Amino acid sequence: MSNTKNAVYPGSYDPITNGHIDIIERGLRIFDHITVAVLTNPDKQSLFTLDERLEMIHQCFNKNPRIEVDAFEGLLVDYVDRKGIHTVVRGLRAISDFEVEFQMALMNRRINREVETIFLVPSVCYSFLSSRLVKEIYRLGGSIQQMVPDVVDQRLKEKFHSRHNHRQK
Ligand code: PNS
Repeated sequence: MSNTKNAVYPGSYDPITNGHIDIIERGLRIFDHITVAVLTNPDKQSLFTLDERLEMIHQCFNKNPRIEVDAFEGLLVDYVDRKGIHTVVRGLRAISDFEVEFQMALMNRRINREVETIFLVPSVCYSFLSSRLVKEIYRLGGSIQQMVPDVVDQRLKEKFHSRHNHRQK
């Protein structure tokens, strides 16, 4: 039996932020290998396509052999079962995250008792950061330093710049 400690870090990653990266780096101190699992959710409108989200994450980790970038659809518990990795990592930024995360962790365990969720706390400088706020700021013409990787900053500017240009035509 392998002694490798593996975990899955699931999320929407629309887009990945420095907060996610911080959690992954912390996770790598505990786990040997982390699978960053991007949710394909046909019902949820995302800014970036699945391919764009995967590509940005790949670029952030530059082929680090301890990180796998993957996509999943359907239930998280089914995905982790298929992977044979029953440890899920989630970030807890603030008390406001707690209720939703607690509910999700217990529900996942209710469906599959093998699944354990480990919560990691990000650096305080990312405790207010979310993909949703990042998108809003760029959509309204702002940008923020040191909150998203350079590749994401660039993609957000391109995305909203091209939208503005389309609207003006
Ligand atoms: O980055 P997010 O949007 O906070 O990630 C949420 C995610 C993807 C972890 C969660 O929505 C999820 O696991 N979705 C898969 C569907 C599922 O298993 N739903 C039941 C949760 S109890």
